[in-house]
Amino acid sequence: MDSQLDWHSARALLEWQVELGVTETISDTPVNRYDAAAEAVAAAATAATIAVAGAQPAAGMDPVDLARKAAAGAADLSSLEAAMASYGHCDLQKGARNLVFCDGHVGARVMVIGEAPGRDEDLQGKPFVGKAGQLLDLMLAAIGLARDRHDDRAVYITNVMPWRPPQNRDPTPAEIAMMLPFLERHVALAQPEVLVLMGNVSCQAVLGKRGITRLRGQWTKAFGLPALPMLHPAYLLRQPVAKRDTWDDLLALGAKLKGQA
Ligand code: URA
Repeated sequence: MDSQLDWHSARALLEWQVELGVTETISDTPVNRYDAAAEAVAAAATAATIAVAGAQPAAGMDPVDLARKAAAGAADLSSLEAAMASYGHCDLQKGARNLVFCDGHVGARVMVIGEAPGRDEDLQGKPFVGKAGQLLDLMLAAIGLARDRHDDRAVYITNVMPWRPPQNRDPTPAEIAMMLPFLERHVALAQPEVLVLMGNVSCQAVLGKRGITRLRGQWTKAFGLPALPMLHPAYLLRQPVAKRDTWDDLLALGAKLKGQA
């Protein structure tokens, strides 16, 4: 059997591995994992000994505190994006191709906060550009809003997490906590009038609550602004019957923008 891979097979294998979540190539030569496991156990034992002996993380090194400081130092949106790019304490960054910061019009009355980039968003570096994003655009268009407008019908879009989690898993509470100060600053700098919280992760991060099927359609307050939790468009793709509820929520959003709610 010819052990040489041709270019196309090698590329197909590589793409398959990336789809499975491989984020780093380590070396060209095989590694004996049994030896590596023994070393890891020894390293963990040393770390545990140090911990028992009372070693603490250096003062001021709490990732959430560091995020707060970095976010507070950003005077405008491009500095905020740069601060997020150089933050360096969220491991999701290592596996992502791009930092997904925003799309739409700065100064829009409506700011949509989604969960986290998926594959398409990671590739393009923009939020909501895959199938769920196409449905989001249709939902917004149903009440006359669009991300490519620059007037009072414009929309600004971001996510709780700027990096794609592997296999599109939900971000962990620790990952959410460390990115939350950046999101709060993002809202303050973008200055929308209302927030739309898309899905459970967004509600968990911003409101500290899950249960989107109960929360949806109920106006609440977040970061000092009126906020409307809505079903995530990815959920609507799986459960089209729920689009009826979302229509009610879109009408509620439209009414709020017209000052009727
Ligand atoms: N889902 C989200 O919540 N955000 C995106 O950017 C894409 C899909």
